[in-house]
Amino acid sequence: MQIIKLNNGVEMPQLGFGVYQIPLDETEEAVYQAIKTGYRLLDTASVYGNEKETGEGIRRAIKEKLVTREELFITSKLFILQTPEEKATETIQYSLDVMGLEYLDLYLIHQPYGDIYGAWRALVKAQKNGKVRAIGISNFKSAKMIEFVGLNDVKPQINQIEINPWYQRMEDQQLHEKYDVQVEAWAPFAEGRHELFENPILSEIGLKYEKTIGQVVLRWLMQRGIVALAKSVRPERMAENINIFDFELSKEDIEKIAELDMKKSAFFDHDAPEQVEWFMQRMLETEK
Ligand SMILES: NC(=O)c1ccc[n+]([C@@H]2O[C@H](COP(=O)([O-])OP(=O)(O)OC[C@H]3O[C@@H](n4cnc5c(N)ncnc54)[C@H](OP(=O)(O)O)[C@@H]3O)[C@@H](O)[C@H]2O)c1
Repeated sequence: MQIIKLNNGVEMPQLGFGVYQIPLDETEEAVYQAIKTGYRLLDTASVYGNEKETGEGIRRAIKEKLVTREELFITSKLFILQTPEEKATETIQYSLDVMGLEYLDLYLIHQPYGDIYGAWRALVKAQKNGKVRAIGISNFKSAKMIEFVGLNDVKPQINQIEINPWYQRMEDQQLHEKYDVQVEAWAPFAEGRHELFENPILSEIGLKYEKTIGQVVLRWLMQRGIVALAKSVRPERMAENINIFDFELSKEDIEKIAELDMKKSAFFDHDAPEQVEWFMQRMLETEK
């Protein structure tokens, strides 16, 4: 597994496993299987509702001596109504308690809404107290990331954002490199949108190396120096997705992949009024 060093010296695996949208009754098993397959970076969030089950999968793997706690890199995130400082402090502690962990490796502000500065004070304090090793943001566009870095004493170690062949974000990556904030890709497969798993260009590239489309996409992210999270509930796909460290995409392959860039989210724009409305509505439903 390739390792990435963050701006505070903490090291993390470059490829990880996400548990978004895994049904509650499948999460423990999926996390356990992912660890068994070799994943060490795990990504959950308060709003996913499966922190407890994620913790259970982790504890089972540790109990069976598949892995030690120190070998894992565990991430969670707080959601919009949890951003006020006091609430954020409680939420971090809740994540630790419900997952049965003494510390988390990474904690993120999940969305660029709410009292993000209050949340940041809580995250910085939690980091100083040893409850989290690295802290960061998610879904912040570059301009917002720059403002956030400019107005805080402690800069985020990570910004977790959507990156996939349809939304490649080359300029955003360059800006994050300028500010020394590591980029982490969510939905590297765009959850299969725009028929990603049938794309002829990606398929043709894969054929040269006897690799699948999923492997080509993840390899492309590795070669860009991006941390990537892939999700699958199927052990055979978990194994497929991690088997990407024995080949290298050529310059020509990368140029072909660049042509797929639609420069637009495969999901939504965080600044679009209808999207903010959706988040506000979801907040009312899930957090109140
Ligand atoms: N910060 C944020 O706002 C945010 C947003 C979204 C996601 N995330 C994080 O990023 C992680 C990954 O994103 P995601 O789960 O949304 O999407 P994704 O990883 O792009 O796609 C997951 C989908 O692809 C399928 N799949 C996985 N590997 C495959 C393969 N090798 N061949 C064919 N199909 C394959 C999965 O199906 P099966 O499970 O049936 O195999 C699933 O339907 C999440 O789990 C979460 O941790 C964060």
